[in-house]
Amino acid sequence: MKKVTIVGGCGHVGLPLGLALAKVAHDVTLLDINPKAVEMVNAGKVPFIEEGAEEIFPSVLNKNFRATTSPDSLKTSDVIIFVTGTPVDEHHNPKVHDVIKVMRSYADKINPKALIVLRSTVYPGVMDVLSDVLSETIPDIKVAFCPERIVQGKGIEEIFHLPQIISGNSPAAEKMAEELFSTIAPKIIRLAPKEAEVAKLMANAWRYLEFAISNQFYMMTESQGLDFYKIYDALREDYPRAKHFTRPGLAAGPCLFKDTMQLSAFHKSNFFLGQSAMLVNEGLPVFLADQLEAKMGDLKGKNIAILGMTFKANNDDIRESLAFKLRKVLEIKRAHVLASDPYLPAPEFTPLKEALEKADGVIVGVPHNEYLDLKITKPYVDCWGIWRKRK
Ligand SMILES: NC(=O)c1ccc[n+]([C@@H]2O[C@H](COP(=O)([O-])OP(=O)(O)OC[C@H]3O[C@@H](n4cnc5c(N)ncnc54)[C@H](O)[C@@H]3O)[C@@H](O)[C@H]2O)c1
Repeated sequence: MKKVTIVGGCGHVGLPLGLALAKVAHDVTLLDINPKAVEMVNAGKVPFIEEGAEEIFPSVLNKNFRATTSPDSLKTSDVIIFVTGTPVDEHHNPKVHDVIKVMRSYADKINPKALIVLRSTVYPGVMDVLSDVLSETIPDIKVAFCPERIVQGKGIEEIFHLPQIISGNSPAAEKMAEELFSTIAPKIIRLAPKEAEVAKLMANAWRYLEFAISNQFYMMTESQGLDFYKIYDALREDYPRAKHFTRPGLAAGPCLFKDTMQLSAFHKSNFFLGQSAMLVNEGLPVFLADQLEAKMGDLKGKNIAILGMTFKANNDDIRESLAFKLRKVLEIKRAHVLASDPYLPAPEFTPLKEALEKADGVIVGVPHNEYLDLKITKPYVDCWGIWRKRK
């Protein structure tokens, strides 16, 4: 059993990891600067949708699991995991200093013998920089980079099923990281730090590119008057190589876009496929608004419902959701937009029944399960294909 503190612990990555570690009997403290999230966690509530999280709380809360805004536990922890955000700036450059700043702010409070684990998704080389920064106050500090590869909302289940990539600044750091993660992950895969950092970015950029090719095909076919889904369903039918051909859709969220841009910055901004994927994915909201306009005529003064405002289905996370860009595009066309989402509160978001009653036209923002069986009688645009005719 290890004493573990997770810095940024009440966030989307920190909380499932903390619960998973507590479930296998580690002593876990979530350190977070968000007092509201800390309060919720200590009351046994998850501040966002995370399958399986609330079931773990009763067996660990106030026993070997708690949240706090105080850094006191850093002095006595065996392992300190950093998982704060790593955004890109308005010019799509990685804000590397954010994560260094966070680590510096805690440097004089940590147990010098602890293993420091970086779990945020970072620009390649950042683990080495952090290792140098911490060495200024703690010589021989053990630092590891162990990326998170969960899909948001299903983190608890995935942590126990996905292999864990680990890397470290010394064999001792790698050994300690392996000891910790082998208590939750079925398999450990070792890489050098920069390889592990690039591996995580490549995983997200690959997914972003998958969406981009589908989005490009959608726009290519539909703009030529062809029915994308008639072609898509036909080409996938009994054809194993197209099994993983993803559907088109608004693709952004807090990770895929910014991690593709981090990888691009790493390659001196010459990641042409990544840059092209951005142009395609970011262009889809405009295309969808134009598609609806082609069906309905001028949208000025019309009520247009967007069904689904979050960045992914069956989740409450709106970070970097392109549905908000779609709303802006429709507003520029002078439509009256009814942004609706069952996971987001009224009155800012219009309840589904009201949105459907008032709407002159509908666009699917994200395919929540709640929409799958709707019978829409008004003009609509559904790039996700949830209402397409199936055999
Ligand atoms: N969301 C995902 O599914 C996912 C998956 C894999 C990797 N990642 C990566 O993990 C990192 C975190 O992402 P997230 O989605 O969990 O972000 P998040 O915003 O949900 O969580 C970050 C948490 O850090 C806290 N925080 C910020 N500054 C702090 C400080 N100085 N001290 C203590 N706490 C602080 C915030 O209050 C927040 O609760 C990012 O690098 C992201 O790219 C995310």
